[in-house]
This record gives sequence, structure tokens and C-alpha cells, in this order.
Amino acid sequence: MADEEEAKIESRLEGKDIYSPPEGFKEQANVNDPEIYEYAEENYEEFWADKAERLDWYEKWDEVLKWDPPHAEWFVNGKLNASYNCIDRHVKNGKGDKTAIIWEGEPVDETKEYTFSELQDEVSKFANALKEMGVEKGDIVTFYLPMIPELAIGLLACARIGAPHSVVFGGFSPEALKERINDAESEVLVTADGYYRRGGTIKMWENAEKALKNTPSIDNVVLVDRMERDIEINEERDSYYHELVKDQPAECEPEKMDAEDMLFLMYTSGTTGKPKGVVHTTGGYLTGVSATHNWVFDIKDDDIYWCTADIGWITGHSYIVYGPLANGCTTLMYEGSPDYPEKDRFWEIVEDYEVTKFYTAPTAIRLFMKWGEQYPNEHDLSSLKVLGSVGEPINPKAWKWYHEVIGGGDCPIVDTWWQTETGMMLITPLPGITDLKPGSATKPFPGLRADVFDSQGDSVDTNEGGYLVIKRPWPSMLRTLYQEPERYVETYWSEYENDIYFAGDGARKDEDGYFWVVGRLDDVLNVAGHRLSTMEMESALVDHPAVAEAAVVGKPDELKGQVPVGYVILESGNEPSDELAQELRAHVGEIIGPIGKPAAIRFSDDLPKTRSGKIMRRILKKLEKGESAGDTSTLRNPDIVKELKDKVQ
Ligand code: WTA
Repeated sequence: MADEEEAKIESRLEGKDIYSPPEGFKEQANVNDPEIYEYAEENYEEFWADKAERLDWYEKWDEVLKWDPPHAEWFVNGKLNASYNCIDRHVKNGKGDKTAIIWEGEPVDETKEYTFSELQDEVSKFANALKEMGVEKGDIVTFYLPMIPELAIGLLACARIGAPHSVVFGGFSPEALKERINDAESEVLVTADGYYRRGGTIKMWENAEKALKNTPSIDNVVLVDRMERDIEINEERDSYYHELVKDQPAECEPEKMDAEDMLFLMYTSGTTGKPKGVVHTTGGYLTGVSATHNWVFDIKDDDIYWCTADIGWITGHSYIVYGPLANGCTTLMYEGSPDYPEKDRFWEIVEDYEVTKFYTAPTAIRLFMKWGEQYPNEHDLSSLKVLGSVGEPINPKAWKWYHEVIGGGDCPIVDTWWQTETGMMLITPLPGITDLKPGSATKPFPGLRADVFDSQGDSVDTNEGGYLVIKRPWPSMLRTLYQEPERYVETYWSEYENDIYFAGDGARKDEDGYFWVVGRLDDVLNVAGHRLSTMEMESALVDHPAVAEAAVVGKPDELKGQVPVGYVILESGNEPSDELAQELRAHVGEIIGPIGKPAAIRFSDDLPKTRSGKIMRRILKKLEKGESAGDTSTLRNPDIVKELKDKVQ
């Protein structure tokens, strides 16, 4: 467990503003009776069973929950298919002509729309192609794609035939891709020749090819020719997506999956160098994401819903693909960056499509704030009704800006706290019920129980900092870590009793029971809403021949929340220089991906260490925050702290 001291991080509360749901909003909200909290608290299995009833099942479950801590099974023996629930049932219910996906490419005017019927055809064709390739129920298919429709289609095609997917974020490096393919032993990789970013071309294929040099399990590569680039392919192994699906039948019977069958695997950074393969299953996951999406965004049939995340992260899985489509909602995907061709691109999209519900990250909001109000002010944003935030704590200043400038002062803001592991939002307002406090994710979703513990496992006092825990299972919780069942227990269920989920975040609860999440307490950084492990960056640094030892810590950053900074001791015979610093940054970028590039490298002859030789990262973190290092008397080398302090300033 991280330092007790760190758990007591000060709150970010600025003032005590409260924003109640606007009257007009409250009346029309899908849920507006606060009694739901009491009902769900007392009857949480019935509450969730009721949410599961919103889905179509081939066979109903025998038991809502089998809880053998820390192992849960939800909707035991229930049978369903996620692809059927996201597509076919809406077609059957007469919504075949409704738009399911709106896709906007980065080049202006490049758009595509799929109705639910068209999506059914596309998904079925690709599912058939995968089957023909030999993909069977239970085989893990890896995706390394940009934000193009084929990514959403691919996930649903996998779900249709019962093949779990593992999506590797397109910004990750060949090395990261290779590691994830090998861990999952995927036989099929779906990737693309490239994509647009800020008007330029990102050569994705070259990255994929590098990874493919060391992925013995891969037999087939499906290549989407997004850019129609002239590239060389391996005829035996690689085939083009459009050729594969061209002659496939547009019907594919969905596989009847058990509620507990794996729907997907999603790798996320942990506190060791090896990423964790978070396993999500079918019935509970779909129940959780569709229920939260419906209530938190107050979904109506005519909504145009836009989540700006990348499908390569959990937010995209849960709240671009599965949650919205299970609810029969029109979901918008955008390929590119927010400043192409101009800094008003997002607002242009909101205006053009009359987006009603908008979900983004604080790092983006801070960027928009910096660019200035003139960009959103050029556009009519009056279609917006609910604004969401996810990925890191949102500071009250950014919250208020979002509320005023984007929401015109009358859209509730839903600040949603959750994780890759939780699958769905756990601490979040309900926009028709909750009084909002800028900066607080407010209260647990109905049926959930959260608390803040001290290191002994006791609830801390009001407004005291501590460790965020979840005290009850929820349907979309992770079931295990792929091929690492012990690490699952150890990481999440071993700090306290084995039925208490340890989130790894610091938080406090105020006098009204509102949660104020402060951020990670472990060695995981949150860089612009992306989770990165400092251990992975450290091993990337020491992988360079000039580096003897390295420590990576987070430095607060106005826009990105945190950025990584690398402390490096060089092997003898190497001299610190700007060139070497650049080279090391690039080296880490190559191993992890551009988002993992340290913002700075600080060379030093030594690092603060305990007498037993352990690097005291806590002291480095304090230096980066501009705080005093505190008591250094127990260090083997206290003098180094002063030296380093001068380097940081
Ligand atoms: C942080 C993203 C404060 C938190 C869905 C968590 C947040 C980590 C919030 C999970 C929020 C996410 N307020 N912090 N509203 N949402 N976090 O797995 O530290 O990429 O543990 O899932 O992001 O990041 P992950």
C-alpha cells in the first residue's frame, strides 16, 4: 500500500457551490425519484435483476448473484448475446432504419452513417469472415485500429461469434502491441494501413508489422485500407477487410453465450511492468453499462450521443459501443484531433449533428479553456442536454467553465468515477436527482456501496483522506486477470477483507456523503486520462544501454493532469547532455508509445534511497510537486535531495 501520508491529500474544493437539477430537466428525467437509492440499497439483487431484464435473454438466469468473495458470477446460467442485444433486437423492434453509428473522419466532409439494419449486415459479414478464417468461440482476436467504424463493427462481430476481443490502443507502440498479442495468444490481428491525425498520416501498418515479427501465434492479419496506402503485404497471412467481407452473407446467427462467458479482455497498466489483462464477461457487463448509460445520460430515443474517448480504452468499449448500442441509442465516433482543421472542430460536430449528450475528459476541457471561449462561442451548442466527464478528477474551475461555456449554464454535468476494472460508472450523479458539487463525482450509483478506509480497514472520519473501496459486488466488475488469478486477488481484494474492492485511488467523503476522488495512490500515472505504469517506463529507460538506474514519477501538469519525469543515473562512460535526454525520451516513446514519453529527464549521480537501497520515489514526487521533501534523515544519502531539488527548479 502506498504511504499513509499520501492518502491525506488535500481536497481541491474551492467554495461550496451546489447546482441542483434544473426543474424542467428533473420532470422529464428517466429517473427522478431519490427513493431509488433506498430501494436499491435494500434490494440490490432485485435492482440489478430488473436492469438485466432490459436486455434480451435466450435463457433466463437461475440466480442473480453467486458471491464467493472475491469471485462473483452474475445472472448464473443466463444465456444471451451482446451483439444481438446491441443490434438485432432493435431491428426486430422496428428501429432498423434508426441511425446506430455516426462516424466522422478527420478530413472535413468525410462521414459515414450506419442504421441498425446496416450495422446488422456489416457485423454479420465480418463475423462470417472471421469464422471462415477459423476463429471459434473462445479465441481472442486482437484489434489495433484507429477510430474508424470497422473497430466498432469488429468488436460486435467478435461478440456475435463468442470470440473475446482485446483492443490495443492505436497510439501504443509495436512493443506494447506485441506483448499484448503474445499474452492473449491471438491468432488473428485486425489492423489498418494508417489514419489521419492533424491532417498528417500515421503509419499504423509499419507499427503493426514490427510487432508481427515476434508474434508466433498470429496466423491471419485483417487489414483495413483506411488510407488506401500502397503497402506491401504478406499474401499468405494478410487480407484486406473489404475483400474479406465482400461476398459474405449478411446473416450470421448469434452464438448463445453464457452470462459468464468472457466478452473481452482489456489490458491496463498496473504497478509492475507487466500489464494486467482485465477480464469482462457478457451478462453482467452489458447489464451494468446499459443501465448506467441510460440513467446517467438520461437517454431518450432521439438522442445523438457523443463520447470523445478512443475505443482503445475502456470508456470507448463501455460508452461508445456497448452501453449506447444496447440502449438502441445513436452513438457518434470521431476519428481525429480536436484542433483539426481548427480549434472548434468538436463544437462544429456538436452543432452539425445536434449532439444532445456529450462525454469527454477533464484534460480536454482544460485544453479548450486554454484555447478560449471564442471557439465554442462560434457555434450553436443549444442541443446539448447533459455533459459528462471521466478519467481524472475535474477541478472546479474547469467544471464551471464546462458548465457555463459549453452547457450554457443549464446542462447537468455528470462527473463519473470508474475504472477499466469496474467496467461501468460506479460513483456518479444522476442528473435528474443529484445536487452537483463541482469537483465531486458525488455518490455511488444505486445498489453500490463505497467508502473511504484508513490502512487498518476502518472508515475514516468525514473529510479525512483515505483509500477508496467498494463494499459490494456489481454486475460489470472484472472477474479475474487473464491467466493471473492470483494477481487478481492480490491486487484488488487483499488490502482488507476479501470482499472489499481496493480501487487504488485516494478519496474523502464530505459531510453530505459526497465522494471527492483525488487520484491514484500507487505507481500508476494518469496522463491526459491515460493510465500508464511508472514501472513500465522505468524498465524502458533501463533498457537503454546508457542507463544504469532510473525512477519515473509524475509531475503535476496544468493540461494533462500529470506527466512522467524520468530520473536517470548513467552508466559510467556516458555524459549527461540534451541530446542524450532526447534520445532517452524517444526510446521510452518507442517502447511504450508516444503518450509514455517522459516530459523531462533529470540526470543525477545518485537517487534518494533507503538504507536497504530502495529508491524513495515519494521524495521525488514531492520535489516535482514543489513541496518540501520532509524528513530525509532515514535516507542513506540525504544530501542528494538538495542537489536534486536544485535540478527540478
Ligand atoms: C481515474 C477510466 C476522478 C481514477 C474510466 C481511476 C477518475 C482511473 C475519474 C481509472 C473521475 C477516472 N474522477 N478520477 N471522474 N474517472 N478516474 O482504468 O484514478 O483508464 O482509478 O478508466 O482514472 O482509469 P481507467
